[in-house]
Amino acid sequence: MKKNANGHSNGQSQGFTESQSSHKDIFTKCYEFNQHTKAQSLGLYPYFRRIDATMGNKVVCHGETKIMIGSNNYLGLAQDERVVEAAIEATRKFGAGCTGSRFLNGNIQLHEELEEALAKFLKREAVLLFSTGFFANQGALTSLLEDTDAILCDRENHASIIDGCKASPAKTIPFSHNSAEALERRLKRLPPTAGKFLVVDGVFSMSGDVVDLPAMQKVAKRYGCRVYVDEAHALGVLGPKGEGTVHHFGLNKEVDLVMGTFSKSLGSMGGFLAGSKPVIEFLRHKARCFMFTASLAPAVTGGVLKALQLMQKEPERIEQLWKNTRKMHEGFNSLGFNIGTTQSPVVPILIGSEIKALQFAQRLFEAGIFATPAVFPAVRYGEAIVRTSYMATHTNDELDYVLETFAQIGKELGIFEDSAYREGAKRRTNNGYDFDVQNEEGVQTLRADSGAHTQA
Ligand SMILES: Cc1ncc(COP(=O)(O)O)c(C=O)c1O
Repeated sequence: MKKNANGHSNGQSQGFTESQSSHKDIFTKCYEFNQHTKAQSLGLYPYFRRIDATMGNKVVCHGETKIMIGSNNYLGLAQDERVVEAAIEATRKFGAGCTGSRFLNGNIQLHEELEEALAKFLKREAVLLFSTGFFANQGALTSLLEDTDAILCDRENHASIIDGCKASPAKTIPFSHNSAEALERRLKRLPPTAGKFLVVDGVFSMSGDVVDLPAMQKVAKRYGCRVYVDEAHALGVLGPKGEGTVHHFGLNKEVDLVMGTFSKSLGSMGGFLAGSKPVIEFLRHKARCFMFTASLAPAVTGGVLKALQLMQKEPERIEQLWKNTRKMHEGFNSLGFNIGTTQSPVVPILIGSEIKALQFAQRLFEAGIFATPAVFPAVRYGEAIVRTSYMATHTNDELDYVLETFAQIGKELGIFEDSAYREGAKRRTNNGYDFDVQNEEGVQTLRADSGAHTQA
């Protein structure tokens, strides 16, 4: 294979002329990329499954109906007729898109209504909408911090937080998952001149753990550290009316800034930050991923406004979500599955080997159940999981069928004999979403790559 001047192989370059071939081709890695094809050739590729129709908690794939236990549509509002109608109405009134940023031409009445409704619901002075939850995290982490500041980042925080940390001028200091002691050890070492920002998920998206906010915020307070909670998986799930983890713990006054998404319980897409007026005003004029991108589409905004109203008007949805969640926690536990330390509708089922997790997900799919596996480096190597999540709209019969099918496939694949079960898995998760890095060297590389692992 031909090497270019930098010693890189460009043997597989396509479209480079003879004279260009002495230069490194940035596309070479793409031509050589084959991680997905290995899983595909085994018939075990679990991603990008095409959905042809959605009916509540069921989907149709290639003409077959599957029970969906892999979505974040916790309250079942994504397909609610009233939400769909509100989205259509908003489209009729404002068109298919806003064709610009809020900052300039894209600020419609519905955006402001939704901000006001959220501020009232969360008991915050002000709210700022973002086009995705990912952007909300980016916006906060890139605009509020300077290069002398530090972000204290739980090791299991979502990828959008990790990427926000990477893009931020501040130094990122990761600490052991959900450990207030580890947080304190890190904070102790920082000088008073460094601005400090504790950033945590309210409900962690892979493990389903609920953040130990009472302990964390106490520590943060002692060191003049501002507190930020990502409520993506907690909105519509925790709190007296679904306000999230912060309200669940009665800590609204102690938490400085709250982030949320519309892509889960509120059934759509988009995100927001909620906080004090001066902070939100600052972000409105400084967060580049708010200012330089098109605003939320009318359909999205109208649909979310309606979903937010319904969530408050129909608290029985949250009650039913928790009934279903408890049933699944108890069901998996009594079948002998290891579900880690989850305290939420996100229920990760330990499988063990990476290949078995892919096989498990495929067998589930064939049996009419849609769930996705998470393998290394999203979880520790050899501790692959099938991540499941439940909705208020799942019926008892559907959930019983899920449990029976897990039991059956678990037996057939010998899950309980896997070393992850015999040796007691440690259940560390992150948000890597890669699936073909096979060794400890790979772990180190990926940790380094994540940008949030520069300090122990
Ligand atoms: C914890 C957490 N934060 C942020 C996001 C990003 O939200 P969005 O899908 O709205 O971009 C997600 C989405 O998966 C998430 O799980």
